[in-house]
Amino acid sequence: MPETKKIFDEVASHYDWLNTLFSLGIHKLWRKKLADELRGAEYNLDIATGTGEVAIEVAKKHPAAKTVGIDPSMNMLRIAKKKIEDLNLGEKIALASAAAESLPFAEKQFDSATIAFGIRNTVDYELSLREIRRVLRENGKLFILEFAIPRNPVFKPIYMVYFKVLMPLVGSIYGRGKEYKYLAESTASFPQRKNFIRHLENAGFRDCRYSELTMGVVALYRATR
Ligand SMILES: C[S@@+](CC[C@H](N)C(=O)[O-])C[C@H]1O[C@@H](n2cnc3c(N)ncnc32)[C@H](O)[C@@H]1O
Repeated sequence: MPETKKIFDEVASHYDWLNTLFSLGIHKLWRKKLADELRGAEYNLDIATGTGEVAIEVAKKHPAAKTVGIDPSMNMLRIAKKKIEDLNLGEKIALASAAAESLPFAEKQFDSATIAFGIRNTVDYELSLREIRRVLRENGKLFILEFAIPRNPVFKPIYMVYFKVLMPLVGSIYGRGKEYKYLAESTASFPQRKNFIRHLENAGFRDCRYSELTMGVVALYRATR
């Protein structure tokens, strides 16, 4: 984690607008889709909350929900805090510095947990999944958004050039080439779709499913404690 923590501390001030640039704004739809999965009045834990995008989307979509957002990067959390204050959402979202591998919460506290583009960054994702399960109540839901490599034989090569070459190149113009190279490498080596479902099941989750978003560049996983 020290390495990924450093990466996100460094990228924090550019994170939101680079996301918008590289995804052509589609990243907002992915988080909206994630927030749609929640039922409403729950107590939600947003892991790897970063600049707070998911927590904010949940608060906007489900006014009765309360979210705790955790992240080890203080720079990301600082930006999240400012956005939450500006939007007057302080009563609905609390933030804390923590890592997914060691959640500072008693067991069975949360109705749901969300994690967008964060599970891949944890040092030990199996331990993280077990930790998330521990803090979810019985029948509590886990929703994960994560990048995937598309499978369509026409789209895949085009996307790979974009993902592995163009994004790091454009990122390097803003001094962030290393971070976007890390994104491509970590996505390629991370278990995807059915393989990731197996890890969710190994961690004790049931009813594990996934669906693909935007031609398979992102997967949305759903699991139940
Ligand atoms: C790509 S950002 C995603 C942020 C946010 N969820 C979003 O959708 O924009 C990944 C986040 O994972 C966080 N992270 C890295 N290692 C972590 C860990 N071990 N536990 C929890 N979060 C971690 C980083 O600090 C960073 O904020």
